[in-house]
Amino acid sequence: MISLRRETEADYRIVETIIREAFWNLYVPGCTEHYLAHVMRDHSDFIPELSYVALADGRIVGSIMYTASKVIDGRGEYLDTITFGPVSVLPEFQRLGIGSMLIWKTIDEARTRGERAIIIYGHPKNYCKFGFKSSKDYGIASMDGRFPYSLLVLELEKGTFAGGRWRYQESDVYNVDADKAEEFDKTFEHKEKKYQYSQEEFRMSSRAFVE
Ligand SMILES: CC(C)(COP(=O)(O)OP(=O)(O)OC[C@H]1O[C@@H](n2cnc3c(N)ncnc32)[C@H](O)[C@@H]1OP(=O)(O)O)[C@@H](O)C(=O)NCCC(=O)NCCS
Repeated sequence: MISLRRETEADYRIVETIIREAFWNLYVPGCTEHYLAHVMRDHSDFIPELSYVALADGRIVGSIMYTASKVIDGRGEYLDTITFGPVSVLPEFQRLGIGSMLIWKTIDEARTRGERAIIIYGHPKNYCKFGFKSSKDYGIASMDGRFPYSLLVLELEKGTFAGGRWRYQESDVYNVDADKAEEFDKTFEHKEKKYQYSQEEFRMSSRAFVE
């Protein structure tokens, strides 16, 4: 039986462990997402009300976390948006619908809170099924003016970005200090960093842009 609930402080370490298990060696050798989760909770952009865990028979097996973000237009006007990530499910519980449950539930919550849009960096194959589209379709570029393949937008309030030319600014919490992440990782059980072919796809998609 799968259930979802808001994350509490008592869940922090177990959630970090799940994130580490899910991301380890997937996109780069090792990973830093568990450290990102760790620092995110003390950051002013963190949105605890949207951070959920998934439980399988009472055991936490998945998590999603949200931060405040914004889009800025040429005149410096901005609109508040939100961003999720990391989202993760323990490898042995993946492909059972748990990640989708976490995403659908928090999309619903975000809509109820009156959020206008969710903007993420993520693989389209994971997110288009929830209604995410290329940021280019809404005129939303990254801060350097390009349209990354992985920059995806779910408009919750139709027409929010209509006619605008925007740049997406995510929370600075995502600029993880690699040395601090390395130190933090030593507080977990040792895991071997290694190459996996999934890292190639990530290297390609993270350097791909939409025309
Ligand atoms: C991405 C992630 C959170 C998805 O979680 P998940 O629980 O595996 O997601 P779901 O089970 O809801 O969906 C995954 C796939 O399983 C399929 N699926 C869902 N329930 C299923 C079932 N009962 N039987 C078979 N397949 C099923 C879904 O259709 C989906 O397939 P698709 O990608 O071909 O559409 C998880 O894979 C993960 O933690 N990955 C590592 C970390 C990561 O990459 N995070 C995202 C960074 S962008």
